[in-house]
Amino acid sequence: MSHGLVTAAYIVAAIFFIFSLAGLSKQETAKNGCYSGMIGMAIALIATIFGDNTAGFGWIIIAMIIGGAAGIYKARKVEMTEMPELIALLHSFVGLAAVLVGFSSFIEPGDVSYDMETIHLVEVFLGIFIGAVTFTGSIVAFGKLNGKISSAPLQLPHKHKLNLAALVVSFILMLIFVSVDGSWTALILMTLIALAFGWHLVASIGGADMPVVVSMLNSYSGWAAAAAGFMLSNDLLIVTGALVGSSGAILSYIMCKAMNRSFISVIAGGFGTDGSAPAADGEIGEYREASPAEVAEMLREANSVIITPGYGMAVAQAQYPVAEITELLRKNGAEVRFGIHPVAGRLPGHMNVLLAEAKVPYDIVLEMDEINDDFPETDVVLVIGANDTVNPAAETDPNSPIAGMPVLEVWKAKEVVIFKRSMNTGYAGVQNPLFFNENSVMCFGDAKSTVDEILAELKK
Ligand code: TAP
Repeated sequence: MSHGLVTAAYIVAAIFFIFSLAGLSKQETAKNGCYSGMIGMAIALIATIFGDNTAGFGWIIIAMIIGGAAGIYKARKVEMTEMPELIALLHSFVGLAAVLVGFSSFIEPGDVSYDMETIHLVEVFLGIFIGAVTFTGSIVAFGKLNGKISSAPLQLPHKHKLNLAALVVSFILMLIFVSVDGSWTALILMTLIALAFGWHLVASIGGADMPVVVSMLNSYSGWAAAAAGFMLSNDLLIVTGALVGSSGAILSYIMCKAMNRSFISVIAGGFGTDGSAPAADGEIGEYREASPAEVAEMLREANSVIITPGYGMAVAQAQYPVAEITELLRKNGAEVRFGIHPVAGRLPGHMNVLLAEAKVPYDIVLEMDEINDDFPETDVVLVIGANDTVNPAAETDPNSPIAGMPVLEVWKAKEVVIFKRSMNTGYAGVQNPLFFNENSVMCFGDAKSTVDEILAELKK
């Protein structure tokens, strides 16, 4: 393939990636967004493999077979609830790739003209730095999301000063690296510092703030890919990396707003956890229980119902009976709507995906801001496997690790039914005073079984 043809193919691929992002921004068009991304990537791969700059065709095919097989195996096996940890792991691969590209580009710089030498060294240095931070940060995020690493924030003394020192020392090392036309010692030292920095940055962040971390690492992985693109002089990698980097940054900003956190302190790491008291996880009063038959009775009499799903609905895969109950109640004349918290579940849009899968009409699925004022006029709220996202302590307890995070104000409804298996805490590890309110009842059990039982009662 000639250079001109490769460039044209790259432009077409980049346009498909932009269509992909546009499609992914709405549930109705998300599938088409995925197809656009796949087409763009296929074009990009073909143009790169058959491009004039590519050597070692055999190696590429071997790498593609191994990578493709691992990808297909993992994608088929992964549960919806494990998606965030898979995403974190994939981010770590992008970071590692940027580090490896950086070192190989330093060892074998290719045709770098005399004028471009300094720029090339800066590219190598920054590429390895961003890649190394993304690599270890994503590994810690992976560990925190799958429970192998405690979700409690690591509280090293002077943690912000440590982060600042890592940045300052790395900057000085970059000046040395460039001034001596490339020093292995400076490069290796910086890599070690960046690996430790990435680890510390994410380890310092508490459980409830993980959504912001995942989107932030998404952004970092994009910038790492863009840096690799500069080192490889690959325009498409630069464009794609910038698209991922900037869309990840926008997502981080949206997440920060949703969680009432400062964007700047997120980028600095270890935000939102200073000075917070250890999470309380004991019981803090008396609670009432209701059987599925009693909940069915409450629903029969309700004119307005709001369902607020959370991570437990995803674990139980309860979205299908929930969708059936919704249909049944609506047929019987009740107004049924869903209230979705921006960080419900374990990945952005998690609940929307599950409800769309169960064919819940989009127009009754509302964002938190759209529905929060309606709770006082609501007869029954069904909290299905949600906990942190409906915790009033976020508003009332300034020492809570989730203090300041906007929540669904379900407790303002006439009656609240909470579906969960025990009195255990949610992801942030804080007890929820909602469970002990006078207008709350607990419906214990796996959410799918209890909702199935309610459905059977309603059909009688
Ligand atoms: P959580 O606070 O995680 O609570 C989920 C609840 O579901 C738990 O209390 C659990 O109680 C219950 N549960 C689990 N399995 C269940 C089952 N099979 N049947 C019934 N109940 C079950 O959920 P949330 O309200 O959705 O909040 C999300 C949390 O995750 C937030 O802290 C958020 O910051 C964090 N997070 C979010 C994201 C994104 S991007 N959304 C990413 C990372 C972290 P039992 O064990 O008693 O059943």
